Amino acid sequence: MECKERVAMKESELEEIAKRRGFFWQSAQIHGAMSGFYDYAHLGTLLKRKWENLWRKFFLGLDDNFYEIETCSIMPENVFKASGHLISFVDPIVKCKKCRNSERADHIIEKELKENFEGLSPKDLMKLIKKHNIKCPKCGGSLEEVGELNMMFPLDVGTGAEARKAYLLPETAQGAYMNFKLEFEALRRKLPFGLAIVGKAFRNEISPRNVLIRMREFNQAELQIFFDHAKINEHPKFNSIAKYKLRVFPVKNKKNNKIEEIACGDAVRRLKLPKFYVYYMAMVQKFYLDILKLPREKFRFRELSKEEKAFYNKYHFDMELNLESLGGFKEVAGLHYRTSHDLDGHQEVSGTSMVINVEGKSLTPHVLEVSMGVDRNVYALLELAFAKEKDRTVLRFPRLVSPFDAGVFPLVNKDKLPGKAREIQKLLEENGFNVFYDESGSIGRRYRRVDEIGVAAGITIDYDSLKKEDVTLRDRDSMKQIRIKIKDLPEVLKKFLNGEKLGKLGKVIKG
Ligand code: GLY
Repeated sequence: MECKERVAMKESELEEIAKRRGFFWQSAQIHGAMSGFYDYAHLGTLLKRKWENLWRKFFLGLDDNFYEIETCSIMPENVFKASGHLISFVDPIVKCKKCRNSERADHIIEKELKENFEGLSPKDLMKLIKKHNIKCPKCGGSLEEVGELNMMFPLDVGTGAEARKAYLLPETAQGAYMNFKLEFEALRRKLPFGLAIVGKAFRNEISPRNVLIRMREFNQAELQIFFDHAKINEHPKFNSIAKYKLRVFPVKNKKNNKIEEIACGDAVRRLKLPKFYVYYMAMVQKFYLDILKLPREKFRFRELSKEEKAFYNKYHFDMELNLESLGGFKEVAGLHYRTSHDLDGHQEVSGTSMVINVEGKSLTPHVLEVSMGVDRNVYALLELAFAKEKDRTVLRFPRLVSPFDAGVFPLVNKDKLPGKAREIQKLLEENGFNVFYDESGSIGRRYRRVDEIGVAAGITIDYDSLKKEDVTLRDRDSMKQIRIKIKDLPEVLKKFLNGEKLGKLGKVIKG
């Protein structure tokens, strides 16, 4: 995705564009929407699915022993006793003495001091509130002491004496841990072994914000990699990435704000990270830069400080994208070394052993988690794609995630052109492409319409198509066109979507 014609936009503008064009909007608006809940509209659903399918293809393709599963969203209380969420999954909350408005304490302070204070204890947050005389952002009233609020949604399952206390999953990860032992037995009894879940998670955020970035019901794509801890300092493919450079923002650079380019081999030595962890850092970066083709300078790994790390993590880097609408780098994913924290907890609370036997050795595997916020990625794709040019606005999505692969247009709505265009639509759909058919208005207006929603290619059928069995293929970003035979169209479009330059696919006929 090229950056040069991109324009900075505000969060509210992005939300407006998303709504007007049919990507997403607040849920249940006619009844007074609740904050932190969004529905995906027709284009957003296509964009999200394309992102999820690319994620599946890339991450499940990393190892023959990685699989996808689907699990329940409601689980009994003991799951969360075991995982630690019941006690530790809390956010700092502060209430206004005057208007009773409650907010996340670190967010109120961040708004005032323009610095991130996530992870600080309630005591330290209170000290900052007092030191800087921070007041309620709604009414200017004084604030109470900072407290803590558990972020899970509780439920009663069943009724009467049968009722059981349960919670909505605050992360899909627990679904994978519940299935780990059963899957291990059902499969090849080999490590490393991966379980991926693309699904819903739920958090009762005190202050949902930034549109899709902090929601109460949201989507995650998470891969849990179970491995032998004794092998954490190796990965069979490490040599292939030893010289590959990662963009890293280590904790120690917080003062000078400097992102470093560090080869994976050096990251092991200088950042004291295990090879197994660094190998997956490289894979995650490749997903963003080579598969999604996002600009390199927009991406970084941010190392989290001891205070900021999630309670279950030993090594924790967030993957962040620089989003102008949100004022800088924002977390869209995380790479978490969770040790055996979760499996140990589930073993202790359930009494079911999580020890497995691999090649004569008994062990409880450790877990490396690749965790991505799907909605955050969708938001980022939309912001990074938006460009205003002289004669048009265009969503320059990476071709592979464009909501539609191609628009199909008869040049005019008469003679035999619509019939031929329908034939081509059918040919493309039969070959697995998703297509937007449009025969209304001038061809120029139709191009503008598909540019606005980010359709990757335009296929136009004209009078020559009837005689010569060929069509034009127009690239959304450069607006250049090539002429290609209809029989070659599926193959050419596939190459185009995979990033091939237009000039390599045919002779460019229009500048
Ligand atoms: N599973 C990790 C997270 O939800 O952040």
